[in-house]
Amino acid sequence: MLAKARVLRNEEIVPGCYYLQLEEWQIARGSLPGQFLHVRIVDNIAPFLRRPFSIAGAFPDSGRVDIIYRIVGKGTELLSRLGKGEYLDCLGPLGTPFSPARDIAVSVLLAGGVGIAPLLFLARILSGEGKKILVYYGASTSGELLPLKEFLPKKAEVFLATEDGSAGYRGLVTDLFESTLVAGTRRAEIFACGPKPMLKILAQKNRYWGYPMQLSLEERMACGIGACQGCAVKVRSEDDKTGYLRVCREGPVFDFQEVAW
Ligand SMILES: Cc1cc2nc3c(=O)[nH]c(=O)nc-3n(C[C@H](O)[C@H](O)[C@H](O)COP(=O)(O)OP(=O)(O)OC[C@H]3O[C@@H](n4cnc5c(N)ncnc54)[C@H](O)[C@@H]3O)c2cc1C
Ligand code: FES
Repeated sequence: MLAKARVLRNEEIVPGCYYLQLEEWQIARGSLPGQFLHVRIVDNIAPFLRRPFSIAGAFPDSGRVDIIYRIVGKGTELLSRLGKGEYLDCLGPLGTPFSPARDIAVSVLLAGGVGIAPLLFLARILSGEGKKILVYYGASTSGELLPLKEFLPKKAEVFLATEDGSAGYRGLVTDLFESTLVAGTRRAEIFACGPKPMLKILAQKNRYWGYPMQLSLEERMACGIGACQGCAVKVRSEDDKTGYLRVCREGPVFDFQEVAW
């Protein structure tokens, strides 16, 4: 659906990274973890295209929808200037959500950078279903790490990694996760979102680990509704044939075995 969402809060929570709370009842009621909003940041022509952002939380009882975004260019810079009480043109919820298995009690959420956003929503829903939540969260340096306590259910266990070692494990979050596997693997499923190289490494390693794993991919988007093919990614079917699927429609969530890197 197309809606004008009212801004409740739009604040920088760590340098360069903003927490946007919107009020839009129908989107709040209809959103599932893994879906995204396609937002038009200004009403005039620049930037011309909408920008996609994962839904970081949706609260049907209060009509609230959350987004967490990092400033990377013109659109996100303009978004950061939006004030309380102003309206944002939103299309959504769009895309195919995560589909957790009913019979797997442990959920591993693995995120790089702002890829944590859709996993925060997922963590809240899975925790409400009584699942154990393990969050592996990595960034380049401690200053980029979001204050997760504010966003995660209390019983979620968090494991941090930074590439410069300024907080938690020194190195990549994928290595941190792998190091915990040695200590004993539990039956679990993995949900991951982050930079493409991180997801590629995960997908390669998981061929050996063998967990059920779903990845949320990011591609540049134009229409956001499946019409332009602009967001297509190469995929591989079970009989090893390759083809293309649209991140905005069949994704952004894919089974790790589907993506042809
Ligand atoms: C399904 C989906 C969910 C997303 N969720 C979030 C989110 O929760 N929080 C968040 O901060 N960002 C998210 N993104 C990325 C976000 O859409 C882009 O950062 C944003 O569109 C950049 O707009 P801009 O005008 O500021 O930057 P631009 O001026 O358009 O680009 C600036 C730089 O960012 C790169 N870039 C732009 N868009 C993308 C993209 N889609 N993927 C990779 N690189 C890109 C460009 O190549 C360029 O280097 C998501 C993207 C997708 C496809
Ligand atoms: S952005 Fe147009 S098909 Fe996905």
